Amino acid sequence: METRTALVTGAAQGLGREFAVALAGHGCRVAGLDLVAQPETAEQVPGYVELIGDVTDEGQIQGALERVIEEFGTLHILVNNAGVYPSCPFEEITPGEWRRIMRVNLEAPFLLTRAVLPYLKAAGWGRVVNIVSAAVLTAPPTMVPYVASKMGLIGFTRSLAAALGPYGITVNAIAPSMVRTATAERTVGADGGFEHVRVGQVVPRTQEPSDLISTLLYVVDEGSGFLTGQTLNVSGGSAFL
Ligand SMILES: NC(=O)c1ccc[n+]([C@@H]2O[C@H](COP(=O)([O-])OP(=O)(O)OC[C@H]3O[C@@H](n4cnc5c(N)ncnc54)[C@H](O)[C@@H]3O)[C@@H](O)[C@H]2O)c1
Repeated sequence: METRTALVTGAAQGLGREFAVALAGHGCRVAGLDLVAQPETAEQVPGYVELIGDVTDEGQIQGALERVIEEFGTLHILVNNAGVYPSCPFEEITPGEWRRIMRVNLEAPFLLTRAVLPYLKAAGWGRVVNIVSAAVLTAPPTMVPYVASKMGLIGFTRSLAAALGPYGITVNAIAPSMVRTATAERTVGADGGFEHVRVGQVVPRTQEPSDLISTLLYVVDEGSGFLTGQTLNVSGGSAFL
C-alpha cells in the first residue's frame, strides 16, 4: 500500500502535536503548519516537514503546500486542528474578535481544504478531519463565537463530505470535551474549569490528548471509506449528539 502523507495544522503543541506523532506512528509522512516553530514535534516525528505560517493567510498556505509537495510529491490527509478558544462574556465581544475567531476556526479550514483538494483528487483518496468541540452541545455562555465557529465547522464537514464523496475523499469531524493541553490549562481549564467539565461527564476524569488518537486513526484508516460527514463525539459522555 502507498505511504500516506498528512498535513496537520496547529502542530507545535497540544492536540496537533499529538496528532502529528500518532500519524507518524501509523506509518504516515507528516508535515505540520503552525504560526510558530515546532521543535518538539520535529523531535518526535521522523522526517517531519516543519512549516511556519498563518492558516488564515492564503499566500502562506500556498507557500507551505508547495514545500509539502516538494518533499512528499503528494498529499492524502488534512487535519484542520489549529484553533483558538477564548472565553469572554458575550457583551464584551467586539466585531474584530468575532471575526478573528471565525477566520481561524472556520475560514482557515475552508482555505486549507481548497488548497489541498487538487492533490487529494489526483491521489484518488483523501481524508479531511476537522477538530470541533463538544462545546457545541454544552454551549457555555462565555464561548458564543467559539461555539458558533465550531458549529459552522460541523456544517462545513457535512456539506463538504457530500461535495467530495465522488473523489474518494471522506470528511469527518472529531469533537473532544475539555482536554488537558497547555493552552486549556492556562485558560478555560483554570479556576476549576476542568473540574466543572469533569462532573458533567460519564467518564470521571479529565480528557488527555492521547484519548483522541484511536478516533483519529479510525477516521483516517484505509477501511473507513464509508464513514463520512460524521461528527465523532469523544467527550467522555458529557454531551450526546
Ligand atoms: N484543549 C481543549 O480543551 C479542546 C477541546 C475541544 C476542542 N479543542 C480544539 O482542538 C484544537 C487544538 O486545541 P489545543 O488545546 O491543542 O490548542 P493549542 O493552543 O495547544 O494549539 C493550537 C495551535 O494552533 C496554532 N495556531 C493558532 N492560530 C493559528 C494560525 N492562525 N495559524 C497557524 N497556527 C495557528 C497555535 O500556534 C498552536 O500551536 C483547537 O481547534 C481547539 O478548538 C480543544
